[in-house]
Amino acid sequence: MNINQLIHERYSVRDFSDRVIEQEKLNQILEAGRLAPTAKNLQPQRVYVLTGETVIKTIRQITPSAYNAPIVLMIGTKTSEAWVNPYSHHSSAEMDASIVTTQMMLAAWELGIGSVWVCWFDVEKVKKAFSIPQDIDIFCLLPIGYPAIDCVTSRNHLNRKSLSEMVSIIDNQ
Ligand SMILES: Cc1cc2nc3c(=O)[nH]c(=O)nc-3n(C[C@H](O)[C@H](O)[C@H](O)COP(=O)(O)O)c2cc1C
Repeated sequence: MNINQLIHERYSVRDFSDRVIEQEKLNQILEAGRLAPTAKNLQPQRVYVLTGETVIKTIRQITPSAYNAPIVLMIGTKTSEAWVNPYSHHSSAEMDASIVTTQMMLAAWELGIGSVWVCWFDVEKVKKAFSIPQDIDIFCLLPIGYPAIDCVTSRNHLNRKSLSEMVSIIDNQ
């Protein structure tokens, strides 16, 4: 599958089958996160693999957006390692984590594994539940798994603004 086809076909999967994710495929997904670009290549990202009956039960209790995924990736950063923009004083941590998540989401789809980007959860609750160190900021979850056989896109999946609403050309002509 080429990247263009992948981008067009991907959708948020919110219903997963029982099929187990092969370790090799999980490794490929994690590798896509490892190779993601980060500001100044400082690599502040940390990815937690939530797996196993008890852990999955816990994350499903914390957020309804874990759905019935067999594995949930949790993406954060050790923010003290992230680049800080000297002009705005903004940390690049969230941008770095977003690129890591995007690469893993796309790599998963290429392997036939669906995912959904999730921010609807209480960060403090997950940090406490999984004993995440205080100096790690958690940004999002990525439940992953093979889509259920009758999995469909959400109703508004194709609802995108037009290019003209999104793009402004800045040209000196
Ligand atoms: C930053 C971000 C946060 C999101 N949070 C959630 C969430 O908590 N729960 C959920 O079901 N979907 C969540 N989504 C998925 C979006 O709803 C979905 O990507 C969007 O509606 C477009 O649909 P598509 O992914 O099928 O193209 C999130 C997506 C992004 C990028």
